[in-house]
Amino acid sequence: MLRMAVLVSGGGTNLQAIMDAIDSGKITNAEIVTVISNNAGAYALERARKYGVEALLLSPKDHPDREAFNLALRDALVEREIDLVVLAGYLVVVPPVVIREFENRIINIHPSLIPSFCGTGCYGLHVHEKALDRGVKVSGATVHFVDEGTDTGPIIMQKAVEVEQDDTPQTLQRRIMEQAEWVILPQVIDLIANDKVHVAGKKVTLG
Ligand code: GRF
Repeated sequence: MLRMAVLVSGGGTNLQAIMDAIDSGKITNAEIVTVISNNAGAYALERARKYGVEALLLSPKDHPDREAFNLALRDALVEREIDLVVLAGYLVVVPPVVIREFENRIINIHPSLIPSFCGTGCYGLHVHEKALDRGVKVSGATVHFVDEGTDTGPIIMQKAVEVEQDDTPQTLQRRIMEQAEWVILPQVIDLIANDKVHVAGKKVTLG
């Protein structure tokens, strides 16, 4: 059984998609051990409680300095014997001490087709604003492994979504969530849980 920690900062619709996929059998051989958030007000924590898994608040604000927070995050994951860390709308930069401990065992969902509209400052609605400003006709979502760069890790899966002429950042964000994020994040977790994801450098093969 793959032991997962899901790290969240906001509403947690991707977390919900993972929980639903476990319940419906779309994800097998994996369980959520803990949901960790930096934000006490994150609705994602409420979703975790309702689902009956640990909802852990771990905020840089509650630690004397960043180093102390970074180590607390690593220790929380190590103590729970986590196999896979899933970043599902987690707005804290994951520190090198965690990335090194969990090499190729941390995945992130990003709401564009990387390498477009990603990198520092490209999160949330900004991603979709940039895509619309550039006038792209397709956007989408990417699930990738997390390395020490921002959105630079090996790409595991991508799904394209049509941009419509009258889209706003909000309508595009919603369509990408529904058609791509909530689909490919559970798919990738199921593949990892069943040992079907192989990494060699930047290249990922499935199956
Ligand atoms: C999603 O758009 C995800 O791609 C991004 O943050 C958002 C999180 O939404 N990284 P939610 O909290 O899962 O609803």
